[in-house]
Amino acid sequence: MATGPKTSRRDFLKRATAGTVVASSSVHLLKAEPEEPQPPSGSTDRVGFATIGLGIQGTGDTRAALKTPGIELVAVADLYDGRLTRAKELFGEKVFTTRDYKEVLARPDVDAVLIATSDHWHMPIAVEALAAGKHVYCEKPMVQFWEEGHKIIEAHKKSGKVFQVGSQRPSTISHHKAKELLASGAIGELNMVDAWFSRNSAMGAWQYTVPKDASPATVDWTRFLGRAPKRPYDPIRFFRWRNYQDYGTGVAGDMFVHLFTGLHFITGSLGPTRIMSTGGLRFWKDGRDVPDVMLGLFDYPRTDKLPAFNLSLRLNFADGGDNGSGLRFIGSDGMLSVGNDVTLAKNPRPRDPGLSIESYPKAMQEEFRREQRERYPESGEEMLASGGETWRAPREQDATERHFRNFFASIRDKAPQIEDPTFGLRAAGPAVVSNLSYFEGRAYTWDPVAMQARPIGC
Ligand SMILES: NC(=O)c1ccc[n+]([C@@H]2O[C@H](COP(=O)([O-])OP(=O)(O)OC[C@H]3O[C@@H](n4cnc5c(N)ncnc54)[C@H](O)[C@@H]3O)[C@@H](O)[C@H]2O)c1
Repeated sequence: MATGPKTSRRDFLKRATAGTVVASSSVHLLKAEPEEPQPPSGSTDRVGFATIGLGIQGTGDTRAALKTPGIELVAVADLYDGRLTRAKELFGEKVFTTRDYKEVLARPDVDAVLIATSDHWHMPIAVEALAAGKHVYCEKPMVQFWEEGHKIIEAHKKSGKVFQVGSQRPSTISHHKAKELLASGAIGELNMVDAWFSRNSAMGAWQYTVPKDASPATVDWTRFLGRAPKRPYDPIRFFRWRNYQDYGTGVAGDMFVHLFTGLHFITGSLGPTRIMSTGGLRFWKDGRDVPDVMLGLFDYPRTDKLPAFNLSLRLNFADGGDNGSGLRFIGSDGMLSVGNDVTLAKNPRPRDPGLSIESYPKAMQEEFRREQRERYPESGEEMLASGGETWRAPREQDATERHFRNFFASIRDKAPQIEDPTFGLRAAGPAVVSNLSYFEGRAYTWDPVAMQARPIGC
């Protein structure tokens, strides 16, 4: 087996930053980086804020939004009375509460709304909110079905208001760092991206607690159903809506969308051109009609800025190995792993391509070896592959708080909208089309520019 020249750790770091488009000190090892991009602090004018859907995420989001100075929570809409009670416990008696989100949209003191309802309400409320002249922070996935994205894009254009999707990854420092490293050529030519989510718990698999007083009197079931098929009151479907296609987007729309968002932000790609998925309901057979194991394969096209590459996404809700989640960019010269931190690992190819000559006559072997020594005199030197160098993001940074600061900066200071409806559809579209591929058992094409899906073979 041939060996090539090995790389010292110092060389590795030098090359990691070689050709970087930003300052050459851009790789920071094992320490926090104080001068990372901060969301603009900007003006602190009052923004009247309202939450539509104060469930698990809506509560966390509202708290995060209120960390930005000058934001005032005016109103909350929710369909379970216990959450309206909780709104006043958490945010004060003055907060107006209602089951009817239209009453929130009609209020002149509301400038911006958070939509953190079940997925099947995202598009209808977003379109109405924009038409009512409100700025919108809409939780991911932006849409339940890809076609709906175009309605939001249209409504956004007409409104002139700010619209931001609540996939917080583009507001994380680690994603900015990864973007910078990838652009600097730190991993050579990108050819593959590998990402996954693994969990092994009931909460992780969306078996949320049903409140003790849940009943048709405390839950507005009819309003919840909205455009979904009519059926009798069912608290499991209301409080665990993610497990049902009628209200949610399954594991692809719910989880893959975070990975598409991060990937598109880091690479600048508009999206894949081919989508295939498979999986099954393997463990959580509690009446749900979405899979708990899912794998997706995606072809990303060559562009003037990026080579063609492949993406594989995996999700497992009954993973006894429980590997957490990961996002890895694999290139010809190394690998970038992106989580809270960013790790750059290199395993350089030897320049000496080696010889496979054992089965040839001895004299010929000698000749080959002599030629090889002349061509690659450095062969045989000691080699040190890099096990990886880690850049740690400052721990005090909360991604959702940063995401809201970006949202309010777009409203107050006209800062660029970082996840507008077009970005939102380019992330949610391939995610929900993965569901079509899974349920229909066929591959799909996706046009990442026009944002249109079509089954292959039709
Ligand atoms: N960005 C993230 O990291 C992240 C994390 C978790 C959830 N989410 C997203 O947040 C959204 C909410 O998820 P959740 O876990 O908080 O769900 P949840 O069930 O805990 O809360 C949803 C709330 O919306 C309310 N609701 C539903 N339809 C409504 C309507 N028409 N009008 C008013 N209220 C309505 C329900 O009463 C419920 O209280 C989902 O779209 C989810 O994908 C995002």
